[in-house]
Amino acid sequence: MAKPKAKTPPVPAEFLPKHIAFIMDGNGRWAKKRGLPRTAGHVEGARNFKRIVRYCKDIGIENITFYAFSTENWKRPDEEVSKIMELMREYLVEVRKHMTENTRLIVLGDKSAFSPDLKNGFDSIEKDTKDFKEMTLNLAVNYGSRHEMVSAVKQLAQQVKDGTLQPEEITEETISNALYTKELPDVDLMIRPSGEFRISNFLLWQSAYAELYFCDTLWPDFSAKDVDQALIAYAKRNRRFGGL
Ligand code: IPE
Ligand code: IPE
Ligand code: MG
Repeated sequence: MAKPKAKTPPVPAEFLPKHIAFIMDGNGRWAKKRGLPRTAGHVEGARNFKRIVRYCKDIGIENITFYAFSTENWKRPDEEVSKIMELMREYLVEVRKHMTENTRLIVLGDKSAFSPDLKNGFDSIEKDTKDFKEMTLNLAVNYGSRHEMVSAVKQLAQQVKDGTLQPEEITEETISNALYTKELPDVDLMIRPSGEFRISNFLLWQSAYAELYFCDTLWPDFSAKDVDQALIAYAKRNRRFGGL
């Protein structure tokens, strides 16, 4: 029998998405509104990320993905990028401490660009949590959908060159399996707070039929109540996948 949920979701369990993707946007504006440096917004955004992970787990969401740092975010000032990296380091220490929580961590993105300690930290947490089944938490860091697709195409091209794959054998599944998300279901619900109406190079393939939900709240203020509102809106959508 399924384990009882720590909190009751706002809609019956059968109406919950299997995979929610969050674009954690608005940290900088949150700080600016308070006369604080942008980095303070990232500190609060990171705190909120942990609150939202906890809430999603408590109501029984099985797969959640958070966009934490994009391939384009390297364009930002060094100080801001360093602060985000520092917050990731701190997060890894915390994950280590709470390893008993039965949550699997997967990193979506190219880790080779990170400093060795961060890259090794992510690698070892991924390895040590790989058999945890209650929830899969995906962190998109140095992630860009186009970058992901380019590396998938390169992998498949290499297999064709090696003679282990024939071009006519390539299917949608072959491509899905060459992406960082290979072990995950497609995104059902994509949530972008902060009043922007765009996807910003996030999970383009995986969100082909995702329901999109936008709201004005800035990420550090995005609460469990906002998650509930998104879930209620999602439960009312009529997903047709091109059928009737
Ligand atoms: C999202 O908040 C965090 C990252 C992109 C790393 P922003 O830093 O983009 O905040 P705004 O959009 O400038 O307010
Ligand atoms: C998207 O936010 C990336 C993350 C949340 C990590 P951005 O703030 O980078 O997106 P744009 O520049 O507004 O499209
Ligand atoms: Mg932004």
